[in-house]
Amino acid sequence: MFWDKKKPEANKPQEEKRKFRNEALIYFDHKEPKGVTVKGVGKIYEEPKTKRKFYAVKDANITIKPGEFVTLLGPSGCGKTTILRMIAGFETPDEGDILLGNQDINPLAPNERDSAMVFQSYALFPHYNVYENVAYGLKIRKRIGPDGKLTPLSKEEIRKKVSDMLSLVQLKGMEERMTNQLSGGQQQRVALARALVLNPSVLLFDEPLSNLDAKLRISMRTEIRAIQKRVGITAVYVTHDQSEAMAISDRIIIMNKGVIQQIGTPMEIYYHPVSAFVADFIGEANFLEGVAVDEPGQGKLVVDVAGYKFTVDNLGNLKKGDEVKLVLRPESVHIDDGKGLPCKVEVSTFMGSYQFYHVRVGSDLLKITEYNPRGKKIYQIGDEAHLAFNEGDVHILPKHAPVNDTIYLNPTINPKKK
Ligand SMILES: Nc1ncnc2c1ncn2[C@@H]1O[C@H](COP(=O)(O)OP(=O)(O)OP(=O)(O)O)[C@@H](O)[C@H]1O
Ligand SMILES: [Mg+2]
Repeated sequence: MFWDKKKPEANKPQEEKRKFRNEALIYFDHKEPKGVTVKGVGKIYEEPKTKRKFYAVKDANITIKPGEFVTLLGPSGCGKTTILRMIAGFETPDEGDILLGNQDINPLAPNERDSAMVFQSYALFPHYNVYENVAYGLKIRKRIGPDGKLTPLSKEEIRKKVSDMLSLVQLKGMEERMTNQLSGGQQQRVALARALVLNPSVLLFDEPLSNLDAKLRISMRTEIRAIQKRVGITAVYVTHDQSEAMAISDRIIIMNKGVIQQIGTPMEIYYHPVSAFVADFIGEANFLEGVAVDEPGQGKLVVDVAGYKFTVDNLGNLKKGDEVKLVLRPESVHIDDGKGLPCKVEVSTFMGSYQFYHVRVGSDLLKITEYNPRGKKIYQIGDEAHLAFNEGDVHILPKHAPVNDTIYLNPTINPKKK
């Protein structure tokens, strides 16, 4: 069976294996960033209680470009850490391949891979001070000298590199501190410096900011992004915080129950989610149910919502007669006294920068954020009004866009389905 298939390394020629291993422990001053390719990767775990095997990750396909910042985002238990740990080498895929640049890294142990990981728990060496924590990896690396021989990095060179790195993460002057004499944010900077100083081809982050308070999280994420851009390194970042993902990523990968739902830039995902799950996970989303009543051509579709017709972009393959869901973001809907879709106000709250409404349209409840409310008419609870929005701001989905469930290998003993 595929999960007890032979480890791929058994098939690799010894020579090639040794070459990769040596390379990972060699220090290169200049390196081009490398991309990461995840090809048909699956990871199977067993539920301890029920002994059912399930896919923690199923058929993951991701192509990360050199120098790109990509974030894995999704609810708890969806498989984000599992993907990251497979790239780092802490877990072995049961199916598929992972490549760093053009090299298959499946057979390599974590310390043989040209990647470095920053953990949520920092994982610093407690008996070392800041300087020693950052210098550690450099001390065990060697570089290829002009004569082709491997030589350790000189003390001065290590001192200079650590010093430069501590400046980059704004920890200059803290060299002598022990790690228990640092705040959470400072410890995370040490962890970042320790990873970056090795000049790896890819940097991996698993929820690095979740132990920090809200304000520090925002400033640290901005710093991580700025440093990543300056250094030009490829980064794979795990979070379940959608605003963190939006703020730092070139592209976001949305996962649910082991399956990748969508990969795209923050804008693509926000404006064109592939499913209600994605729309709801990234930002706030309103859904209105309707029916496609006409296909006027030029990629448009006319939809009917409670007798009101809208002409919207048809990015999927929706056809006349299909039941659809309109996705509308709270900031693109307005309340007015015009002739739009009738609604009734159920919540009206002044939030300072915006007035927040809940309005009912038939059986659907919509959230509306009316920014800069000063001077605008404020609707009160119980008021009857109308909705206004630009048709260009509407995104449509099939009414029953599929959301996957956990994929079991032996579903017959699934007690829920008895
Ligand atoms: N060693 C393991 N043995 C069995 N099941 C595991 C193991 N590690 C993780 N899992 C399960 O695999 C699934 C994916 O776990 P993973 O840690 O990748 O989730 P995550 O997306 O990182 O979640 P979180 O946001 O909570 O960190 C979960 O159902 C988890 O319980
Ligand atoms: Mg996790």
